[in-house]
Amino acid sequence: MCGIFGLISNKNLNIGKIALDGIKRLEYRGYDSCGVAFQNGKNFDVKKVSGKIEALQEKYSLNSLSGSLAIAHTRWATHGAPTKRNSHPHTDCREEIALVHNGIIENFIELKEELISKGHTFKSETDTEILPHLIEDYLGQGFSFKEAVVRTLKRCKGAYGIAVCYAKEPDSMIVARKESPIVIGVDKGATSYCASDIPALLPHTRSCYILNDDELAILKAGEVEFFSVNNANKKIKKKPEYIKWSVDDARKNGYDHFMLKEIFDEPDALRNTLKIPDNEFKNFAQELVKANQIYITAAGTSYYASLAGKYMITRFLGKFIQNIECSEFQNRLSGALERNSVIIAVSQSGETADTIEAVRWAKEAQPDIKILSITNVVGSSLTRYSDHYIVTRAGPEIGVASTKTYVTQVLSLGLIALEVAKLKKSKPSEDIQKYYDALTSTPDIIEEFLDKNVNSIRAFVKNLEKNLNYFFLGRGISIATAKEGGLKLKEVACRFIEGYSAAHAKHGPISLVREGFPIIFIAPPDETYKRLVGNVMEFKSRGGYIISVVVESDKKVTDLSDVTIRIPQPSTRYYNLFSPITFIPALQILSYFAALEHGLDPDKPLNLAKTVTVH
Ligand code: AGP
Repeated sequence: MCGIFGLISNKNLNIGKIALDGIKRLEYRGYDSCGVAFQNGKNFDVKKVSGKIEALQEKYSLNSLSGSLAIAHTRWATHGAPTKRNSHPHTDCREEIALVHNGIIENFIELKEELISKGHTFKSETDTEILPHLIEDYLGQGFSFKEAVVRTLKRCKGAYGIAVCYAKEPDSMIVARKESPIVIGVDKGATSYCASDIPALLPHTRSCYILNDDELAILKAGEVEFFSVNNANKKIKKKPEYIKWSVDDARKNGYDHFMLKEIFDEPDALRNTLKIPDNEFKNFAQELVKANQIYITAAGTSYYASLAGKYMITRFLGKFIQNIECSEFQNRLSGALERNSVIIAVSQSGETADTIEAVRWAKEAQPDIKILSITNVVGSSLTRYSDHYIVTRAGPEIGVASTKTYVTQVLSLGLIALEVAKLKKSKPSEDIQKYYDALTSTPDIIEEFLDKNVNSIRAFVKNLEKNLNYFFLGRGISIATAKEGGLKLKEVACRFIEGYSAAHAKHGPISLVREGFPIIFIAPPDETYKRLVGNVMEFKSRGGYIISVVVESDKKVTDLSDVTIRIPQPSTRYYNLFSPITFIPALQILSYFAALEHGLDPDKPLNLAKTVTVH
């Protein structure tokens, strides 16, 4: 939801530039307002703006500022509008405490009333501001800085990742986490850094400590000590993880936008995910084979990946699998969650609040339930609630609209499906091998598609510029592709779309069709193809402008279409099962160019944040 970055050093650094670069790399987490606090020898200089990081630099020329301690924040507003006053860092009454926060303090109203009754004055409408005031209150009672922070955190309900500094102890910074990520990097003997995510640390170090829930770290120049919030006298030993991502992985690599770069990253993201050891997928398959009931839960793009995954797994498992949006999980299953059930939770970030709440609730409601999760982030909250997890190898995804993480999620679900097929012997082994060959060729198919087709998609998108509404239609497994393709166009190009079953669309939605209404049909030559041809005719005869996504050898749908996007893959059932992977880049590219046509920034869709940590 928000990005935090901090550093403390024994050197006089170009601190303004480093701090702003740090939050710039976290801008995907929120970008509606930002701020930074620098130690000025006495207390803190706090500079904030409503707006983007460039505006902060422009207003205060921070790039030329030197110093040795700073905390910075880029915000996605939850409590209080995205104004300068509500942006972080927040301070106490004496302006001796400066603090940045990611998360939500749920009991902030009670705490605020208590603090006001004690004489504290608040400057913002945020939940965060209670934190520096509570710390100030405990310091006033004679507690040490560390003890004051610990006591404050113990009073708070909700989620936090914080970095906090105290003017009277300028040689230390305290960071802590509960359900909001914090990573720490140390350049030994010189400088220590903290951030909400790894890309912000990569220019400084590759060796990162990942803070767990209820852990606290004291950062000094070039050193760090870890403690548990629940037993703050006892040090915790932690080992750093070596991060292999290159700095360029987290940058645009010469592409105009992260979204485009990340679509072109897809073949490598898939190849890397294919290197995950088989036994990780097998662990999932074993649990699925044993389970009484199986649910898949997720949000947004991850939910559509789970729709595709359900089709693939069901085909070989022969058991019903229920997809449930994570925000509805508890409502739908209260009192109905059976013993020996399995939940597959899919989340790119591993931090989506509704997904985490669904698995936590399920574990409490039925302790023997097994949580299997698929995420792209090592050490994310979801992995900690899981009995088994797979971390996809898409690398950092900066564009708010998920692209490469979607294909790696579907690939992982496909690999689980094939492990199920092996375990259940639901297909002859030669058949399973053919499915496996098709799945492992998805990176090559996408690479060839991107090589050949991008310019032609750009050209026809120009003609669509005037259209405000679209249908995205498919049948069977392609309903997932239709919904995900449509979500991309909605997010980045701000068009209204209905992603729907092509068959069901004739029971109502078809009444919207007029001359030239654009309908995008997802038409792999699978078992649904014949009937889809009929659906295309229904829409064509009412004046619809038909854009279809088909394989290269396609004939029937092509003849009915005004425009086709052709996917270079063989037309066999082995490949068709994985069409959600190979067909989606076409729709992602279409959405990307549509965003440009409409003058929108595809990396920063309106009103959205990359990780949604509110319910
Ligand atoms: C993806 O393009 C969206 N920005 C959004 O729907 C996203 O997929 C959703 O918020 C779930 O996020 P997660 O995968 O990190 O849980």
